[in-house]
Amino acid sequence: MRVTKEQLKSLIKNKLHRAGLKEDHAEIAADVLVFADERGIHSHGAMRVEYYAERIAKGGINTNPDFNFKKTGPCTAVFHGDGGNGHAAAKMAMDEAINMAKENGVAIVGVRDISHSGAISYFTHQAAKENVLGFSVCQSDPMVVPFGGAEPYYGTNPIAFTAPSNDERMLTLDMATTVQAWGKILHARSKNELIPNTWAVDKNGEPTTNPFEVNALLPIAGPKGYGLAMMVDVLSGILLGLPFGNKVSSMYENLSEYRHLGQLHIVINPAFFTGLTEFKKNISNTMEDLNQIKSAPGFSKVLFPGENNDLVLAEYKEKGIDIVDEIYEYLISDTIHNNQYDHKNPFAK
Ligand code: NAI
Repeated sequence: MRVTKEQLKSLIKNKLHRAGLKEDHAEIAADVLVFADERGIHSHGAMRVEYYAERIAKGGINTNPDFNFKKTGPCTAVFHGDGGNGHAAAKMAMDEAINMAKENGVAIVGVRDISHSGAISYFTHQAAKENVLGFSVCQSDPMVVPFGGAEPYYGTNPIAFTAPSNDERMLTLDMATTVQAWGKILHARSKNELIPNTWAVDKNGEPTTNPFEVNALLPIAGPKGYGLAMMVDVLSGILLGLPFGNKVSSMYENLSEYRHLGQLHIVINPAFFTGLTEFKKNISNTMEDLNQIKSAPGFSKVLFPGENNDLVLAEYKEKGIDIVDEIYEYLISDTIHNNQYDHKNPFAK
C-alpha cells in the first residue's frame, strides 16, 4: 500500500492520540516514525504504532510527564523524561543541545527515564539542519549475546551521527550495534520472510533463519560490536545513573510500567573548529569523493553513508511511502490495539 507522507503522519498521530498520548507528543512521535518509513527504515516506522498504542493504553508511557531540563554545567545538561514518550523527550532535549552548542561550541545532554525513541538519526538530523554535528546513542532492551556468551546482556544499542553539507544532503550513520536491528526481525515476521543465518541465534545459541525462532541477536563483528554496545550502555545508561546491561527494562514486558531508558546527545559546532563554511564544503567534497570511488563487482556506485536512505526518500516522494497492507489496515481501523504485546516473551512466536 502506498500512502503520502501527510496521510501516514495523520493516521499515526490520530492513533497515538486516541491511545492516550497528548496531542503535541503524538505529533512528534508521528513525525519520528514517518521520518523512518519515508527513508525505508520500516523497522522503526508505522510498524511500531500498535506496540506504542498498547503501552500507552496500559499506562506504560506517562501521558502527562513532567519533562524537566536541567543544566549541570556550561556544556552539559540532563533532560528528565519522567517515563514519558521517548520521541518527544529526545527531540526536545536535542533542541536544547543545539542551542547550547551554538553558544558554547559543544553540548552533551543526557535524556533519562524515557520510553523507546525510534530511529535515532531523526535527532542527529535535527542538529545537522541547524548547521551543527549531531551524535546520539541510546539503550535498548537486552537481546544481544555478548561475544562468547550464550545469553543476552546488552541491547541493540544504536549509534547515530549526522553532519551537514553544502546543500540539503547530509552525511549520516545510523546503526544498531547488532548485525540487524530487532525491528528487522519483526519486519521479517510481519512479511513472513526468512532471515540470513548471520543475524541471530535460537534458544540453543545456534544461528537461525527463522525469525520466529530468534532468541538473541548477534553483535556486529564479534568482539568489536560487543565493545560498541558496551560503550553505548556506559554513555546512555551508567553515566546517567540508569539501569544498565541486562537490567534495562524489556520493551515487550510489563506494558503498564514506565520504562527508564537513557539516551545521550552530543552536539559539536563546527564554527568553533575549522569554521562552518570550510566544514560544510569538505563534507560535500567527501561525499563527492566517495561517489567517485571505483565500484566493486556487483555494485553500480559507492554511496556515502545515509545515501541509501536518501534514494528511498526520493522514490517515496514520487510514488508514495510503501507500507505493509496489514499495518495500513490497522492504522485506518478503529482498533487501538489487539492486546498482543503485554507479557509476551519478545522472542516467542
Ligand atoms: P541499517 O543496517 O539499515 O543501516 C546502517 C547504516 O548503514 C545506515 O547509516 C545506512 O545509511 C548505512 N548503509 C546501508 N546501506 C548502505 C550502502 N549501500 N551504502 C552506504 N551506506 C549504507 O540500519 P540498522 O542497524 O538496521 O538500524 C535501523 C534503525 O534502527 C536505525 O534507525 C536505528 O537508530 C534504529 N534502532 C533504534 C533502536 C532504539 O532502541 N531506539 C535500537 C536499534 C536500532
